[in-house]
Amino acid sequence: SSSQCDENQEFQELLKTLPKEKGWAFDEAYLYQGFWIRAQILQQIILCQHQFQARHTDVLLATQPKSGTTWLKALAFAIAHRKRYALPTHALLTNNPQKLVPFIEVNQETHQQDLADRLSSLPPFSPRVLSTHLPYASLPESVTSITNDCRIVYLCRNPKDTLVSTWHFMSKIKSSEAAYEEPLSLEEAHELFCRGASPYGPFWEHMLGYWKASLERPEKVLFLRYEEMKKDIKSQVKRLAEHIGCPFTIEEENEGVVDDIIKLCSFENLKNLEVNKSEKMLVVDCKYFFRKGIVGDWVNYLTPQMAEQLDQVTKEKLQDHGFPI
Ligand code: A3P
Repeated sequence: SSSQCDENQEFQELLKTLPKEKGWAFDEAYLYQGFWIRAQILQQIILCQHQFQARHTDVLLATQPKSGTTWLKALAFAIAHRKRYALPTHALLTNNPQKLVPFIEVNQETHQQDLADRLSSLPPFSPRVLSTHLPYASLPESVTSITNDCRIVYLCRNPKDTLVSTWHFMSKIKSSEAAYEEPLSLEEAHELFCRGASPYGPFWEHMLGYWKASLERPEKVLFLRYEEMKKDIKSQVKRLAEHIGCPFTIEEENEGVVDDIIKLCSFENLKNLEVNKSEKMLVVDCKYFFRKGIVGDWVNYLTPQMAEQLDQVTKEKLQDHGFPI
């Protein structure tokens, strides 16, 4: 239609005005509202910012790529819908968590850009468990509005593991496509990451945005860390359940419901499910969402100099904010 054509032209004009960087996987990255994003996704993001209407009961999971999104999706879905699925026939046994908890800003299953269409595939009960990689300041207005009760859960991971995980993931999806260009080297990836040009980065600004929001509005935003979840999953799962309005009862705890959910969503269990070994979402094999699932794997990849440089940037970026490293 002609209005679509206008929109497209407007979008092309917008692109010309934005700073550009080398992308991690396919196309170039652009700096939009202070964060780096691929052109192809940018158009969908703008649509989402204009159209997405949060419901009071919504649960929105926010992360940067490769900080444990898949794990958080599985846990939140299993917690919120624990009365609907019996363990032996649970939806998570036959669906990748990415499929059960869609992103509000991108469609992982088709190139179809229609937001209503994408959300119509959600299970027909409340709460809707949704996800996003958008920074806090760029969320659709209805999500952050003080008159909307929807809940946000942010999951953060240490930058060195996030970098290494992102580099592995991008290399795999790039080389699995008809590759006319080599995947980024780890050195290039490290340099882009340190400069802030990681997917949806700068890394530090992204986490600080949600961290500050979690201090200002603790009833709205819960801030979780991947490392704390690895250390003591049970207490983190209980915090998560409380925050999204589905706390566990003493009876449930005694019956082992919390432990069952933790086991269902564990790395070993999800990684070995047939669906997660064989299915594909657009260009991404679901198996790429499960690599090692540990803390500190960066030591096997980053040189001491690379680690030190990244630590230094982290220190500089966080020192004035009181963020506990
Ligand atoms: P590694 O590459 O370090 O192994 P995302 O889900 O945001 O894409 O993040 C992917 C990272 O989370 C990968 O990290 C992946 O192995 C890890 N992961 C996936 N499922 C997990 C789970 N159930 N428990 C812990 N880590 C998990």
